[in-house]
Amino acid sequence: MHTQRQHHHARRTVDPRRAESIAAAYDLAGDNYIAYADGDSTRLFSFEGLHAYADRRLWSLLDAKLCRLRQSGARSVTILDAGCGPGTWLRRLVTRAVELRFATINARGFDVAEAQIETARRMAGNLAPLPGVSLKFDVADLTSPLREATGSVDLTLCLYSVLSHLPIASLPNVASEIARVTRGRFITTVRAVGSTPTIFIDSIDKARNFRLDHSQDRYHIELRNGRSIALRSHLFTARELRKAFGRHFEVEELSGLDIFHSRFLPDRRWNPASVLSDKQFLDLLAQLEELYAGDARFIERATHLLFVGRRRGSSAVLGAERRLPKDDNSRR
Ligand SMILES: C[S@@+](CC[C@H](N)C(=O)[O-])C[C@H]1O[C@@H](n2cnc3c(N)ncnc32)[C@H](O)[C@@H]1O
Repeated sequence: MHTQRQHHHARRTVDPRRAESIAAAYDLAGDNYIAYADGDSTRLFSFEGLHAYADRRLWSLLDAKLCRLRQSGARSVTILDAGCGPGTWLRRLVTRAVELRFATINARGFDVAEAQIETARRMAGNLAPLPGVSLKFDVADLTSPLREATGSVDLTLCLYSVLSHLPIASLPNVASEIARVTRGRFITTVRAVGSTPTIFIDSIDKARNFRLDHSQDRYHIELRNGRSIALRSHLFTARELRKAFGRHFEVEELSGLDIFHSRFLPDRRWNPASVLSDKQFLDLLAQLEELYAGDARFIERATHLLFVGRRRGSSAVLGAERRLPKDDNSRR
């Protein structure tokens, strides 16, 4: 039944600007998406492969926020993941919140792609029944009002390009709604304007061709298996991101995430084994990331822009690590 729906969506002439074409693309990806995005989905904290650096960096940030909240004496935590895909980040956070002995853990993820939500529910099967845990996944659209109560969420996430798929004109309303429900932090990553290409749903070598029309934010992808995908995709400048969310959130961090790692990744189809990255080299890249993540000349050439905002007027309980881009051209 579900497979029929997937095919129906994928074969129809799609308008890449519509949310349903985004849902169709991620539905079509099915479980390939979780393999592409998260590697071995059963090893939640292994952080291997293409996205290892960005994931590890993001995880240390999220983990620190959770620990800080617990250390402040909080016994309950509420987390919302907007555009959660297969729900891996919520599984990580809920697992950690259980370890930290939060007595009540409320977590909800939602996504427009039904197939991703089905995967999320299936993968979360062992966490959802734990005492004190409420872990739910729904099909919903971020451009619609959120069901959470005002000021009820400690951590609101919108990770890895969810915002890139929204109509840019919807951002002010989306930002207001996220701000309405958030009492703690909002953490998002979007594709930067100078990032390397991606086809979002799978590794780029699955594509025969791709072209992003920036005047319309329309992205057409021709897959090697003969299928075509059309989806809205916007590449962000740091200014756009700050403008959308800076009204509601004090900017704790606005930085480039993964400037060097992806670009220095050896390609096994091209480089000999002698060029494979060893620990020493990876440590060096990590130092470079640290050095240039806030540098105005590099930030928009990172794979992602990372925004961490503290709800204006909220207490600083979740902790602040500042890394803001310098407007001048001096090095950090
Ligand atoms: C690259 S995936 C990231 C998924 C997940 N956040 C992660 O980090 O693995 C982008 C996700 O955004 C979802 N998405 C796009 N537009 C959306 C919308 N308007 N409302 C909810 N989800 C949306 C897609 O269906 C897809 O699952």
